Amino acid sequence: MNPTPVSEYDDNEIVNPSSNPHMDTILAARLSRRGALKGGVGATTAALLGGVGLSACGGSDDGDEKPAPAPAVKLNFAAVAKTHADQVTIADGYQVSILHALGDPMMFGDESWKDDGSETSESYQRRIGDGHDGMYFFGMKDGKFDASTSASGLLCVNHEYVVAPYGLHPAGSTTVDGKRPASEVDKEIYAHGASVVEVKRKAGSNDMEMVRGSKYNRRVHSATPMDMGGPAAGNAKLITKLSPDGKQAFGMNNNCANGYTPWGTYLTCEENYLNVIGRAAGDDAGRSASEIVALKRYGLPEGRKSPYAWDTAEGEQFQRWNSKISAASAAADYRNVFNSFGWVVEIDPFRPDSKPVKRSALGRFNHEGAWPAPAKAGEPIVIYSGDDARNEYVFKFVSDAKWDPKDVNGGMAVGAKYLDKGTLYAAKFNDDGSGEWLELTFGKNGIDSKNALYPFADQADVVMHCRLAADSRGATKMDRPEWGGVNPLNHEVYMTMTNNSQRAADKVNAANPRPGNENGHIIRWKEEGGQAGTRFKWDVYLFGAGIDTAGVTKKQSENLSGLTAVNDFSSPDGLYFDQRSGNAGGLLWIQTDDGQYTEKTNCMMLAAIPGQVGDGGKVTTKNKQATIMGAKPTEANVRRFLVGPFDCEITGVVVTPDGKTLFFNVQHPGEDKADFATHTFTSHWPGNQPGITSHHKGHKRPRSATVVVTRTDGGTIGI
Ligand code: FEO
Ligand code: CA
Ligand code: CA
Repeated sequence: MNPTPVSEYDDNEIVNPSSNPHMDTILAARLSRRGALKGGVGATTAALLGGVGLSACGGSDDGDEKPAPAPAVKLNFAAVAKTHADQVTIADGYQVSILHALGDPMMFGDESWKDDGSETSESYQRRIGDGHDGMYFFGMKDGKFDASTSASGLLCVNHEYVVAPYGLHPAGSTTVDGKRPASEVDKEIYAHGASVVEVKRKAGSNDMEMVRGSKYNRRVHSATPMDMGGPAAGNAKLITKLSPDGKQAFGMNNNCANGYTPWGTYLTCEENYLNVIGRAAGDDAGRSASEIVALKRYGLPEGRKSPYAWDTAEGEQFQRWNSKISAASAAADYRNVFNSFGWVVEIDPFRPDSKPVKRSALGRFNHEGAWPAPAKAGEPIVIYSGDDARNEYVFKFVSDAKWDPKDVNGGMAVGAKYLDKGTLYAAKFNDDGSGEWLELTFGKNGIDSKNALYPFADQADVVMHCRLAADSRGATKMDRPEWGGVNPLNHEVYMTMTNNSQRAADKVNAANPRPGNENGHIIRWKEEGGQAGTRFKWDVYLFGAGIDTAGVTKKQSENLSGLTAVNDFSSPDGLYFDQRSGNAGGLLWIQTDDGQYTEKTNCMMLAAIPGQVGDGGKVTTKNKQATIMGAKPTEANVRRFLVGPFDCEITGVVVTPDGKTLFFNVQHPGEDKADFATHTFTSHWPGNQPGITSHHKGHKRPRSATVVVTRTDGGTIGI
């Protein structure tokens, strides 16, 4: 048996080939319009901010726009220094515990984690999965969702992917005679997806523990039956042997980030599903020209092998991991299985028997997450999402149905009401700081059967291939959109652009202005005409940069935001506006998934109190690209809160409504090297985390885990 290198799908593989006008024509347009920065920064704003970052600021003809008052809150901790310590290093006055880690049994009757990969595959249907990622805490009172309850609730956690996978198997992933052993593949299928667990505070403490054996504890994984909802449900392009009517899907994959609804359900989003789907060589011969266009645009040319090679295992049940034509009709093979991934999945954590639904109206792509704007009675539900691949798009969904607060706790039926009918848009970030939402509706704006890029058949085809619809409309190609969030103070929307090594110097634009973009940035926008409006104004809140370059061999981007030692960061990914009750003052958590500045520090989480769109002004990069940047951060309003263990990503964050318990995830500690013979890993976290007393203590294998943060004095977190 030879170890098989199994790694996360590399989104280097996809490069948007469309010739949208975002690059060259926008550049030309900008050069010919060096005039005022329209509508971004008013004199009132400039006066209020004391000129911070306004030296290159343009004028404005929107003088009637008054900035919101500055938040009255202050960060309550001293910044943590960058470090390579193999532990969670957190600000003084705070403490951590481990809620759950890969392989922990959620129910009684399964053995504890053995630290040797000997757990059965079957038991992973009841164990915590791998690759902890997006998550959300739903307060629970009398068995129902209660947004003001902190002491007990349901915690939903995504299990994005199987890491290495050093934790699951005795000696890592293996291949025998070119085939993956079925027992390993089964274990990996069950270790993906999401978990729902009941959590409650420990007696006399704000620290939390999992309630083992709770009736709410549940795994949804890559073999869980689910329904399709929205325009694509029942479409011919979703027909498979397992779903002859195109209305079902089997399993969800590579669930990265998440969302939540005001009615109390969890949204979990399929991102790098190309990890697990292959397509046989020669398969194009049986495909139509338009099918081939669609398959290629979504990264699955014929002959592409999936990194996890689940389709090589013996057994009919593994054939569905190859999207090839192998029988006379779609109802007799898995040619369309690829189309069943890349969606937002809704799960009702309060009804453990309810069937999850893939909400197709929100589009299909490398779905990082789905972030709702605060719901307002009588107005549509608005959800933002990003397509995490290089040069892909930002999307927005606006429901047809208007929010009725009586729908709280209505479960999946309410999900269908708001999420199955609505309008999908893609974002165009203009060079002058304005932006527009481009509608992706069949029969409008050339999105029809005569489209030159791809002949759309109907709205099902549009949502299933919304990348092509967005190409056709001329959406702006971004530097890998990751998490988003909506500021509860002013409803401005933030989204991380984690990095983009393929952003060529001659292909920059104002919204993605740094060539190479090694360290990423955070863009934000303010909607015009309400949250469902179709125009917005944007600026870049923060540009990541590694400023401590002594001994660093990897290139670091230009430090446009003026970061210092207390807040320099690279590759922002997780992003979360604290929703705690009583208004947290727009407290923003920023997390990193980095490979560029790791010679200086492990990945981290920062806390920030941002201003607002337009509080800075126009700047020009050293490459002569103009952009619009927010007021530069200060050490008072952006600070490093914690640093994670070695070779990890920090991702997933949520805070209880009272602000006294924070959860975050450590994903893939020590992912870069494992020697099973000697039990040598680059990380031994969480078993080596100082101060922990749980059963995780002392274990050698690195494991993804959920961490609980509390203040030692029982106070509120961050502010
Ligand atoms: Fe799974 Fe885009 O991070
Ligand atoms: Ca991510
Ligand atoms: Ca990432």
